[in-house]
Amino acid sequence: MSTPPEEVVSATRIGVVGCGYVGISTALGLHTLGFDVTALDVDPIRIDALCSGDPVIEESGLVEVLAAALDSGGLRFATGTELGGVDVVFLCVPTPLGVRGAADLSILRNVVDAMSGSLADDVVLVVKSTVPAGTCAQVEEMLRERGCGAAVVSNPEFLREGRAMADFFAPDRIVIGGPDAAAVAKVAALYAALDARIITTDWATAELSKQAANAYLASRVSFVNGLAQLANAVGAEVDTLLEALGADSRIGPHFLKPGPGWGGACLPKDTAAIVALGRSHGVELHIANAAVIANASHQGYVADLIRSRAGGSLRNRTVAVWGLAFKAGTGDLRDSPALALIAMLLVEGAIVRGYDPTVAPEHLLEGVSVCSSAIDACTGSDVLVVATEWREFAEIDFVEIASVMNGRAVVDARNCLPADAVRAAGLDYTSLGIR
Ligand SMILES: NC(=O)c1ccc[n+]([C@@H]2O[C@H](COP(=O)([O-])OP(=O)(O)OC[C@H]3O[C@@H](n4cnc5c(N)ncnc54)[C@H](O)[C@@H]3O)[C@@H](O)[C@H]2O)c1
Repeated sequence: MSTPPEEVVSATRIGVVGCGYVGISTALGLHTLGFDVTALDVDPIRIDALCSGDPVIEESGLVEVLAAALDSGGLRFATGTELGGVDVVFLCVPTPLGVRGAADLSILRNVVDAMSGSLADDVVLVVKSTVPAGTCAQVEEMLRERGCGAAVVSNPEFLREGRAMADFFAPDRIVIGGPDAAAVAKVAALYAALDARIITTDWATAELSKQAANAYLASRVSFVNGLAQLANAVGAEVDTLLEALGADSRIGPHFLKPGPGWGGACLPKDTAAIVALGRSHGVELHIANAAVIANASHQGYVADLIRSRAGGSLRNRTVAVWGLAFKAGTGDLRDSPALALIAMLLVEGAIVRGYDPTVAPEHLLEGVSVCSSAIDACTGSDVLVVATEWREFAEIDFVEIASVMNGRAVVDARNCLPADAVRAAGLDYTSLGIR
């Protein structure tokens, strides 16, 4: 990574609205590239934490990057919607699941409405939030109705939680779209120092590229989860099966890991949103829709596995659940498949003892005793379920685990434990597909 040309850095002051995963990564990434950045959020507690060096979110390397940024100056966090004197504003606010699966754009619209009066006409407003195709056009219309001439550019974010900063500095691609070539070029220039493939296009293509990526990933995981079920049924070695599948250069090895169902803050809402977008245009996205249905069904399959290993009923059975975050490397619990699974176990009368390295025992999680260690969660449990693939789970002493458990059943819904070591400890190991 080099730095952008001095004339670009000195002439471009950045504003960021929304200090969550995307906003913090964008603010810190652009500040590291040399830009002066002001980042806003509605949450004063979050802003206070960021000002004092607490990045609020669990992300590798973020504490250090934030500390260095605060030390060096040129980075401010504040509440409010006033961003005077900036040249480019990145909108990184939530676009949650709305009615009938469509994206709820009310926060984004409110922010545009509130800012429109204070944005100079030569400002570029960049929509980084994930939005359906057509949103940037609507944002521009809103601005014009309010007498604001700022240009609107789509620059969807593709970061992966747990790798947010790494993905900022080494993205697979950067997509920038809009009808105003100068505005698109201005945004592209911000990333000039990165060794990244920059794809410039129109609004709709840029907007759709993000939802399409997430819907494809969701579909791929659902396909693999279905294969894992079939592997269990026919006695196929799932790791070898997926190795053989991924070795095909037309398919590739990534995102071919069975799990308890896809979740997190993005895949569920973005897959639902692209299906809803398709329907609003008379296009039925059968595959993406099937992925949503398959995911719900797969979560039921995993719950069935746990019940059967618990002896046919979960009533008053104690289940240890390792992992609460939606995936390893993040503390994000939003739409976590672990929590969806736990909800099913609780409905069936199970007693759930959960553990996650990012979730403190004081954390209130309805119906769950949050434990301070993996072994603590297993103490007295009838079944152990692995719901998040934290590396530390694979390194645990399973003889010790067997000694504190009441039952023998281990359901590895992430296929991440060393199967031989678990069996050697006298435990009854079940995975998604044979291992
Ligand atoms: N998390 C991811 O991995 C990821 C990846 C790519 C894209 N996205 C998309 O980026 C957008 C933001 O996602 P996120 O995960 O960073 O969300 P987040 O929930 O982590 O953060 C959003 C932030 O916006 C703030 N906010 C809410 N309303 C606001 C307002 N009116 N003014 C200022 N700040 C406001 C919230 O307080 C919060 O701090 C969404 O559209 C999401 O789909 C997320």
